Amino acid sequence: MLYFYRAGGKPEKKTTEEIMFTLTPPMGWNSWNTFAQNIDENLIRQCADVIVEKGLDKLGYKYVVIDDCWSEKVRDKNGRLVPDKKKFPSGMKALADYIHAKGLKFGMYSCAGTLTCGGYPSSYEYEFIDAKTFAEWGVDFLKYDFCFKPEFVQGKNLYRRMGAALANCGRDILFSACSWGAEQTHEWIRSTGAGMWRSTGDIFDSWESIKSIILQQIDRAGAYCGAGAMPFGGIGCFNDMDMLVVGMHGKGHVGLTGCSYEEYKTHFSAWAIFASPLMIGCDIRNMDAETEKILTNKDVIAVNQDERGAQPYIANEVWLKAHNAGSPVIARLMNNGDIAVAMFNLSDEKARVDFRGDQLGLSRSTRVRLFARDLWSGEEFEIHNYTYCTQAEPHSCTLLRVKIIPEE
Ligand code: GLA
Repeated sequence: MLYFYRAGGKPEKKTTEEIMFTLTPPMGWNSWNTFAQNIDENLIRQCADVIVEKGLDKLGYKYVVIDDCWSEKVRDKNGRLVPDKKKFPSGMKALADYIHAKGLKFGMYSCAGTLTCGGYPSSYEYEFIDAKTFAEWGVDFLKYDFCFKPEFVQGKNLYRRMGAALANCGRDILFSACSWGAEQTHEWIRSTGAGMWRSTGDIFDSWESIKSIILQQIDRAGAYCGAGAMPFGGIGCFNDMDMLVVGMHGKGHVGLTGCSYEEYKTHFSAWAIFASPLMIGCDIRNMDAETEKILTNKDVIAVNQDERGAQPYIANEVWLKAHNAGSPVIARLMNNGDIAVAMFNLSDEKARVDFRGDQLGLSRSTRVRLFARDLWSGEEFEIHNYTYCTQAEPHSCTLLRVKIIPEE
């Protein structure tokens, strides 16, 4: 137990977990990818119902987030945001109560500029009023976008301002920054109090989009720290690769060509190994069985949610650079001592993907035995000679959890 003094309030006793609600990547559902402006309170309630009915909450999917286009176009006479009267006739407090009664958490959206990306009133110069309003409504999570930012202000100051407003609003609200990596977000984002931050542009439901986001993360690892380890994501402030498109099948707002199940598995594996927040973006009311299987794979979620918070790194960095190949192998040390290893084939051809023990720091001299579990097939096997090699299908990812057994 710790003492935690909330500004303006009485001292409260709280656990570290209660204070730091971003000890592991946040998980939930967000309305944008499928519904965009076509949202209302019935839809949000139905999605909250489904999360509980399907037991998604038990797996960690706790946040129900309303994205853009939820408000009236003008503020009230006190300068407060007003929920769209047709879409949300019962108001946000009632919706928050409904969501909380289910044991879930309620997320909303605003923007650092003069309008939201969808052209609705935004929080620029209304930060403290809006933070207070969100607190009064019972909001637990605020996604904060970056459209229509006045040119003469720096993004970092606007995020710091909203971070301070939220810290003073009287309620614990997870600050989810969405500045798409602009203005070198990685350099200042942790100073704003944000619990997660978008490092790339918007996702679309196509293989090209997923591949591009994965490659941007890999480039960033090289460019920012040179050591091939993913910087700036981790406990307290997670690197958000955007909402998931798993199961959209080309339908809904960001639906383009859609993806195959293999591609959706690769997408989910990548978000897991990189410790990105997992915000479902499909219409969960109509999920097919295969989609549900992907989104509820406990072993893959466990990699994502691993409490150690160790950085993922590119295991085959040297080889990758030398061959300019689309087969990155990303590894991450797990809390129980295992190493999660994601072997990607991002190319359009079947390809050999392999890793060697020394790329994980495990040379022969360590005299350990390595046992792997394939987190998608469930297959278990020993890795011999400190090398593992697979003939990988195009656009696939083999996700292994490698156990290290010191030799007797
Ligand atoms: C931006 C964000 C998206 C979404 C839309 C809403 O593009 O990056 O995630 O919130 O705005 O208009």
